[in-house]
Amino acid sequence: MQSSFRFIKALKRQPVDCTPVWFMRQAGRYLPEYRAIREKVGGFMGMCKNPEIACQITLQPLKRFSLDAAIIFSDILTIPDAMGLGLHFKTNEGPHFERTVRTKQDVENLPIPDMQSDLGYVSEAVRLTAHEIQHHTPLIGFCGSPWTVATYMVEGKSSKHFSTIKNMLYSDPKLLHALLKKITTASALYLEAQIQAGANAVMIFDSWGGALEYNSYLQFSLPYMQEIVTHLKTKPSTKDTPIILFTKNGGQYLEHIAQTGCAAIGIDWTVDIAQARSRVGHLVALQGNLDPCVLTANPENIVREVKSVLDRYGKGSGHIFNLGHGITPDINPDNVQVMIDTIKQYSPSFHSKE
Ligand code: CP3
Repeated sequence: MQSSFRFIKALKRQPVDCTPVWFMRQAGRYLPEYRAIREKVGGFMGMCKNPEIACQITLQPLKRFSLDAAIIFSDILTIPDAMGLGLHFKTNEGPHFERTVRTKQDVENLPIPDMQSDLGYVSEAVRLTAHEIQHHTPLIGFCGSPWTVATYMVEGKSSKHFSTIKNMLYSDPKLLHALLKKITTASALYLEAQIQAGANAVMIFDSWGGALEYNSYLQFSLPYMQEIVTHLKTKPSTKDTPIILFTKNGGQYLEHIAQTGCAAIGIDWTVDIAQARSRVGHLVALQGNLDPCVLTANPENIVREVKSVLDRYGKGSGHIFNLGHGITPDINPDNVQVMIDTIKQYSPSFHSKE
């Protein structure tokens, strides 16, 4: 069953009838039904930690739209939360940690969370959701890249300039490597647990890899994602599960990312998907890359821009349509419908001759 999904076939660059589509943050605040459940249940992490609620929210966008994949409703910060840093989401303020990680002692004190007792709620949500949808839609599990997760642990919150963690990078690189190593160990076990619970593909979100200086990306972000990929690729129970790596603003590293053994690379809108395909399309599939702001435009303009992404990728498999980053809360779901209708109507002509 798993291998017949259009999304999984495209990840493997096998022929499909139509370009598959899903999008980042598809279960989120732009949906009135998400806002309603959030109002009722309360805190964001409380929703993530309740497997029935997390399953219900994961399914919300599937009920509205014809999507080719679901992504489990959770967050990349579940790992540092499980390491005991005290995570809170204040309304409209993003994540805050009660404790930061800045010294050798802080890093040494961090436990590797137990995937059952500390993070079992995520596996349980995956299990419930996979059970619900396994006959029609594949489920994506995910984690953050060690670098991206570390930015929140060191800064204590979202950051613009990353000055505290970059200070650590330049003044005590060994300490940062020790922290990244711990997050990597936890993340590899975490994705393994999600796959064992039923995730059909996994994605690593490196939202802030693009904020690194060129050589620093190759030392502090990519090698740790590589380690997670290698871990999954060497275990019999996870080796066949496709892995998607997404470094926001990582266009200059596509050749490096393609060498990791991932099945697909997520790209943002700053990359020309035609050029990306000619650079790495013989090695990996590409996922992306509509600018989410296109969805603020009127329907004719949305149709034009969606067609433009499909045209630029061109004929053949290996493309998963997505946004270049998460959908924002201001988007009207009707505009998402326009995007999806356009993909369903326009993309079969790119595949019919396969
Ligand atoms: O894509 C999906 O539908 C699956 C769920 C998902 C969420 N977060 C739910 C969420 C995924 C894949 C993530 C990943 C995530 N979380 C990333 C990487 C992707 C990216 O956007 O770059 C990052 C950096 C985080 C950390 C995080 N979580 C931040 C910075 C915030 C606050 C910013 C914001 O959008 O408010 C969150 C909160 C969050 N994660 C929400 C959702 C639906 C909003 C929570 C709410 O209801 O208030």
